[in-house]
Amino acid sequence: MTQGTAHIQPNGAKIAKTVLMPGDPLRAKFIAENFLEDVVQFNEVRNMLGYTGTYKGKEVSVMGSGMGIASIGIYSYELYNFFDVETIIRIGSCGAMQENINLYDIIIAQGASTNSKYVDQFNVPGYFAPIADFQLVADAKNKADEIGATTHVGNIFSSDIFYNADTEVTSKWARLGVLGVEMESAGLYVNAAAAGKKALGIFTVSDHLLRDEATTAEERQNSFTQMMEIALEIAE
Ligand code: HPA
Repeated sequence: MTQGTAHIQPNGAKIAKTVLMPGDPLRAKFIAENFLEDVVQFNEVRNMLGYTGTYKGKEVSVMGSGMGIASIGIYSYELYNFFDVETIIRIGSCGAMQENINLYDIIIAQGASTNSKYVDQFNVPGYFAPIADFQLVADAKNKADEIGATTHVGNIFSSDIFYNADTEVTSKWARLGVLGVEMESAGLYVNAAAAGKKALGIFTVSDHLLRDEATTAEERQNSFTQMMEIALEIAE
């Protein structure tokens, strides 16, 4: 384990084997303050806040990933390869791409399709399919069923663009059964594969690409809490 990297400087603080990664570093702070005990901050480089604490006695870290594959690509690479992290669980929001998915449902990303060239850097002579760790998928689904959360398990679309997305293009992904769109998981999954480590993405549905639907703060909070409970319970 290294003392520090270009983007993560723990200054002696520990990083747990499992790291939960929301996109927003202030969300990481909120999670540390509201879901963990005995919290120690382990990173503030670029304000990408990271914390280690305990959940029901088990050590867990939480750190922001930033937005996009480029950003999560850097942080997940350093965590897996320089800090002995075994598992990264991305916790985020996504836009739903199927009619049978509703706002606040939870999506467990078994696979992550992408329009990003990130995966091409690994130079495989074909198309690598970025997938989540099977045990994490199974554990997340079981835990979600146990707490009564409405879940969908399948493919998500890790897009490099948030704005100016061509709706015709988006519908082509939807036609292949892709459940929702976010911006990081394919990069996380391929980094996990290259490092021989484990990854999973769990999402609350924050918006709908096929319907103009509004969200309330209270409902957002409920589904966020369900997603957090799933992630924290399956953390090893
Ligand atoms: N696009 C990309 N990322 C997202 C979206 C979206 O519509 N919603 C939540 N994350």
